[in-house]
Amino acid sequence: MTELELIIDLHKNSERQGPGSEKETLKALDFMDFPNDRNLKIADIGCGSGGQTISLAKKLSGQITAIDLFPEFLNELKAKSEKIELKSEIKTLEKSMDELPFDNEELDIIWAEGAIYNIGFENGIKKWKNNLKKGGYLAVSEITWITNLRPKEIETFWKQEYPGIDIASNKMKILEDNGYTIVGYFYLAQDSWIENYYKPMEARFQQFLDRNNNSELAKKVVEENKSEIGLYLKYKDYYSYGFYIAKKNE
Ligand SMILES: C[S@@+](CC[C@H](N)C(=O)[O-])C[C@H]1O[C@@H](n2cnc3c(N)ncnc32)[C@H](O)[C@@H]1O
Repeated sequence: MTELELIIDLHKNSERQGPGSEKETLKALDFMDFPNDRNLKIADIGCGSGGQTISLAKKLSGQITAIDLFPEFLNELKAKSEKIELKSEIKTLEKSMDELPFDNEELDIIWAEGAIYNIGFENGIKKWKNNLKKGGYLAVSEITWITNLRPKEIETFWKQEYPGIDIASNKMKILEDNGYTIVGYFYLAQDSWIENYYKPMEARFQQFLDRNNNSELAKKVVEENKSEIGLYLKYKDYYSYGFYIAKKNE
């Protein structure tokens, strides 16, 4: 297996592929205001196995297109969604987030939890805007500094991993400069990282190593994740996923 295949293998069969919670998905949704009878068209981009897709589909009426690059995750979402009663229909789509198949102004909501970083925040919000109706909403979570000053070790780590990391006010300015109005902002609670993402991942490490014959590459994947977890536990007061909820200007 390649390193990418191993990363997918590590993240398979899990509730989420990134930090988050149903409570915070619904909190973000609460900032949006739609007529009650509106049948909504929603895109959930970089949906993974669809933790947040299911939360949205339980709450909203309409159609959700759940998009991800990897069929392994989409198949899990499909299987899960067939077992529960949902208000929205979920359609899965294997596609890259930089080539969305929607028409101009087709969507009421664009949702992306922990995923826009794959094409960069500014690039993503600019690209996706055409597909959003005027007055439609964007909800994206993105790694964000909580404070304006921070220890060098964590600054250096994140600047290397994701140079686009910034404080929330700078991310909001990018949204405002690109035709969006901010309607809400909060950052994810520490439990959304530890209890919902890192602990379940740690619990999968041994089985992941066993089924991959303790290969050097599999061990490397585990060590890198352990090191990321260590850094989070040490510096969790300095960064989180910021959840940005914005409305496309009329
Ligand atoms: C950190 S995970 C977040 C998944 C999910 N939203 C969650 O919060 O559990 C990022 C997701 O983006 C997907 N992804 C990566 N590059 C992508 C691309 N170019 N287009 C679509 N999805 C992509 C990955 O497969 C993964 O499921």
